[in-house]
Amino acid sequence: MNKAKSKKNKQTSHIWGGRFKKDSSEIMKIINASIWFDKKLAFHDIALSKVHSNMLWNKGIILNKENKKIQKGLSIIEKEISNNKFVFSDELEDIHMHIEVRLIELIGDAGKKLHTARSRNDQVATSFKMWVRDELDLVLELIKKVQGSLIFQAQSNINTILPGFTHLQPAQPISLAHHLLAYVEMLGRDKSRIEDAKERLNKSPLGAAALAGTSFPIDRFATAKALGFKKPMENSIDAVSDRDFVLESLSSASIIMVHLSRLAEEIVIWASPGFNFINLPDTFSTGSSIMPQKRNPDAAELIRGKTGRVASSFYNVLTMLKGLPLAYSKDMQEDKEPFFDAFDNLKLCLKVAEGLIREVEFNVEAMKSMADLGYITATDLADWLVKECNIPFRDAHSITGKVVKHAEKHKLTLDKIAVEDFKKIDKRITNEVLKVLSLKNSLESRDSYGGTSPKVVKKALKNAVNTWLKS
Ligand code: ARG
Repeated sequence: MNKAKSKKNKQTSHIWGGRFKKDSSEIMKIINASIWFDKKLAFHDIALSKVHSNMLWNKGIILNKENKKIQKGLSIIEKEISNNKFVFSDELEDIHMHIEVRLIELIGDAGKKLHTARSRNDQVATSFKMWVRDELDLVLELIKKVQGSLIFQAQSNINTILPGFTHLQPAQPISLAHHLLAYVEMLGRDKSRIEDAKERLNKSPLGAAALAGTSFPIDRFATAKALGFKKPMENSIDAVSDRDFVLESLSSASIIMVHLSRLAEEIVIWASPGFNFINLPDTFSTGSSIMPQKRNPDAAELIRGKTGRVASSFYNVLTMLKGLPLAYSKDMQEDKEPFFDAFDNLKLCLKVAEGLIREVEFNVEAMKSMADLGYITATDLADWLVKECNIPFRDAHSITGKVVKHAEKHKLTLDKIAVEDFKKIDKRITNEVLKVLSLKNSLESRDSYGGTSPKVVKKALKNAVNTWLKS
């Protein structure tokens, strides 16, 4: 280790060039080093360097034999890193320096030419962007899987009735499939936000060099294309100081987490014995070390809990960037850890959500019983008074209020109130009203576009499969 350290020490002064007499202080090396987290970018950095070197050769800036050596050296480094043979040390600030120094060690002078017409400023912006782009693709795949789990459960629960809530108070009967499909839609918007961010980020900073471009005859379009970007970024200053791609990804990640957290919250509530709407699977719950009767919704709670962590990563980078003048400042090195942490946790939560939703068991009877209790067909009664008795909605609302009061007093569900009693409240009410007061009728009647009637939900489910699961 010491040997490695002193060796790297000498190389540090090589990279800075001639103007420093003394080495950095030990504590400066610690604050300055990003290697312990940016080593993740190694393969992206190598890919970028290979493309850059090929371009330098194509444009006559370096010789063919130099490019060949560089390509070979970079491949060796790639293998060393894959096989855990590469030595990392905080004597060298970051992954970019580590790779360059090792390249020079391996191939000598040709290695010193790789950094022609580039800077670590465009290098770090490009390799990090490539990393972010890959992460966004992974997240898109994982969201699709969560949508798959929700759709899987929806398929067998089109006719399952539960009380829909507002203010967490029973409001109107809804189909469980309809409720689950609401989350499918939310996740669909999450996907489109990510696709949107991907589209905007896909321009290459490489070739912006330190901030002002370069006097070498480089081909930024060629390097952009080779690295999978649509084209180079237009402005060299913007190219090295832009971290919008980090912000947009983190804000999208935060919104996804908020969606998962709302679902997690419902799972926690539904699993509580007061509701008993679901049985948690053994695979995604825990017991208590002291209370043998317990089954805790830890998976859902952790998803809910990690939401703050992901959202705070967004605030972290947002705040870090807010006061920065153009172009690159070292503050920007602080963009990576929050991103890595947020996306590692986001991916974890998406995987957990997928499994948890797929394996949860719904207690159809418990849902139905709670739906029976909450006078949740009261709106149907009010609507019936409007439609059949030509009563203005406000008056119908007030009559229905009296009916609910009566039901509460006599501990009856609305469809069990005798017609004579209805008539005592308002004589215009007839026998016919009973038809609309059952949960089933109520559900079936809400057949407006996007509504909860099983007929509409069946179509929505088909659309959801076509929109989100195919392709
Ligand atoms: N380690 C730096 C980062 O992650 C790389 C860029 C350094 N550029 C510079 N001018 N010091 O942001």
